[in-house]
Amino acid sequence: MKEVRVTEDTEDVLHVVGGKPLEGTIKVRGAKNFVSKAMVAALLAPGVSVLRNVPEIRDVHVVSDLLRLHGVEVDVDGHNGVVTIDATHVQLADVADVDTLSGSSRIPILFSGPLLHRLGEAFIPQLGGCNIGGRPIDFHLETLRKLGAHVDKEHQDGIHITAPDGLHGAKIHLPYPSVGATEQTLLAAVQAEGRTELSGAATEPEIMDLVAVLQKMGALISVDVDRTFRVEGVKELKGYTHTSLTDRIESASWASAALATHGDIFVKGATQPEMMTFLNVFRKIGGAFDITDQGIRFWHPGGNLKPVAIETDVHPGFMTDWQQPLVVALTQANGLSIVHETVYENRFGFTKPLVQMGATIQLYRECLGSLPCRFQQRNYKHSAVIFGPTPLEGRDIDVPDLRGGFSHLIAALTANGPSDVHGISLIDRGYADFRGKLEALGADIS
Ligand code: EPZ
Repeated sequence: MKEVRVTEDTEDVLHVVGGKPLEGTIKVRGAKNFVSKAMVAALLAPGVSVLRNVPEIRDVHVVSDLLRLHGVEVDVDGHNGVVTIDATHVQLADVADVDTLSGSSRIPILFSGPLLHRLGEAFIPQLGGCNIGGRPIDFHLETLRKLGAHVDKEHQDGIHITAPDGLHGAKIHLPYPSVGATEQTLLAAVQAEGRTELSGAATEPEIMDLVAVLQKMGALISVDVDRTFRVEGVKELKGYTHTSLTDRIESASWASAALATHGDIFVKGATQPEMMTFLNVFRKIGGAFDITDQGIRFWHPGGNLKPVAIETDVHPGFMTDWQQPLVVALTQANGLSIVHETVYENRFGFTKPLVQMGATIQLYRECLGSLPCRFQQRNYKHSAVIFGPTPLEGRDIDVPDLRGGFSHLIAALTANGPSDVHGISLIDRGYADFRGKLEALGADIS
């Protein structure tokens, strides 16, 4: 048998020598989980849209490629963070071409509504996205059916959706405040005939920024305090110009890195309103922060870090994407911390390499929090207890997913001695120029 050598792309391994505090200034641009959706929204209008403060991340290029496959002109000015989209002409993409993009992100499913309005049909490739749970799209498909679309899973590698008679308003309730399903409904309802009422919706800041974009385009959308959106379908939408809100996940990731490495990082662009729940927890752990008009400075003021009990939830709760990087800082806190992950059933896979580096983390099937969640009595280890402080030793690490990968990077930076972090190109999906940022913060990487 011929030995097959799997030569790893050396670009994909980052050699890190940990133990040095991260200190300095970095700039965080627009939110990954907003800009991709705003780009899809541009598809609704036969005209030109301009999106500013766009980060240079892989997701932006995946969505650009998918838009281009549908005949849309997209110009990405990475240096200035400006994306210009001209969706005057839209055409059906070739299934084979769309397939090449399948498995790379979850955004394609959001093309459904806009393509149904522009073309009366859509082909959506198999979705990708981080392996942090089943990532079903049943809410999305149910919403589209209620709005009048016909959904056929005829291809094993994608979904064919048609709406020959157009979409009409409907009364929709989400069993869980799903971010994606909320965006799916809004993108489809803005031009559906009549009124749509969406209850049990997600109201994350990224969603409210998408509503702002849709309103600029000519949509009629309101949201009530009970998580109910009401949309009145309109005939025409036009292009928009919009500057994205800052990425609060990336900002919180760097804040966690400052805490774990005893560092001091000024995150230019970070804004308080979207991060208030994170800032409260950061302060309870013993971290210090200073909020200015230009951004937020996060630092470790010395002394011991304190353990905390965290429960992730939909907005305005503690965001599920914030917990992975913060867990690394909790391995350095004095005592027992608890994280009850209620959004995803399987989001603690990243803790295994941390334990191998010396952390003491135990996973439980029980709901270790104040409220029983959907995963209670099911076979998911969705609660974690972290005991600290435990010194971490550098080692070889394989990045499992985007946010878990960044937590491994923080762990390697916190650990004594060298680590080789493999598969780091996955981190490019959501953290623009993180290598350059690490160098700016004095990290010993190569
Ligand atoms: C978005 O994912 C984000 N991704 C996620 O960030 C984020 O963690 C998540 O929202 C929650 O805030 C993007 O915006 C691209 P959901 P999304 O639909 O929309 C269940 C990151 O690292 N569900 O709110 O896919 C689902 O299984 C990523 O940036 C259904 O059951 O998340 C999960 O348990 C990770 N059926 C829960 O809802 C559905 O049809 C929340 O998922 C849809 C979702």
